[in-house]
Amino acid sequence: MTTASPTAAGSGASATQAFRATRHDTAAVTAERISDVVSAVLAGVHNAIREKKLTYPEFQAAKQWLIEVGEGGEWPLFLDVFVEHEVEHVAAETQSGTKGSILGPYYLPDQVRLPSVATLPMRSDEKGTPLVLSGQVRDTEGKPLAGAELDLWQADGDGYYSGFAPHLPDGNLRGVIVTDDEGRFTVTTIRPAPYQIPTDGPTGKLIEAAGWHPWRPAHLHLLVRAPGHRKITTQLYFQGGDWLDSDVAQATKPELVLNPQPGDDGTLHAEYDFVLERDAA
Ligand code: DHB
Ligand code: FE
Repeated sequence: MTTASPTAAGSGASATQAFRATRHDTAAVTAERISDVVSAVLAGVHNAIREKKLTYPEFQAAKQWLIEVGEGGEWPLFLDVFVEHEVEHVAAETQSGTKGSILGPYYLPDQVRLPSVATLPMRSDEKGTPLVLSGQVRDTEGKPLAGAELDLWQADGDGYYSGFAPHLPDGNLRGVIVTDDEGRFTVTTIRPAPYQIPTDGPTGKLIEAAGWHPWRPAHLHLLVRAPGHRKITTQLYFQGGDWLDSDVAQATKPELVLNPQPGDDGTLHAEYDFVLERDAA
């Protein structure tokens, strides 16, 4: 392995660093709420132990694995793959407009701002089929939202994210596109590859030991925001793509699947409109 090749330890540790460096909306939680939620989590664990008749050697193996996840900085990876989809599901119950999906561990704030017609920053020899995504951002009443922001990030043609793999330039395939007077945007990028959970870290080892597969279908990540409106965190997928029906992170939704069509030069063209609801007054 060369020093430039991405490793689980590298991406895990950087995901932990990125999480710590970003401000998150954290809740002020009462003792009652903590007791309520933590008791429910523990009851779930206790039930699993009784139901599966967990042995002492298995309990010790679990402890060892948990320690390794922490040491590898893989908690963001593990939680975003195996837990976040349920948190998103609960959030979606009170959300209208475009469907949401998980944020995942690889968002980085403060990327380059781009005009409404733009190309994401990429290497001159960026691998992958060119993809043009265009559409409009509107409110739930159909009014176009000028100056809305599409904060877009994605894996490259090998399934790696810039900022989390040392061989990629900072900011590669990341950017914030600002919609025009009619709320429209056209962004040129490449079709990403499916993403594989790093197989050399504790999360990947668990997946292998359990006989599961480590893949997410190819996807674009987006935050869509406009002043006075509820921010949407979502992902767009590709019809017919591998793993679309068996996402390890269980984060696909039928409403979020693009059906890009090739133009004469082979470039793929897809359209997607985003609908944001107003902030609660
Ligand atoms: C993970 C990676 C992703 O690209 C994603 O969208 C969600 C989760 C992960 O490795 O945890
Ligand atoms: Fe992702």
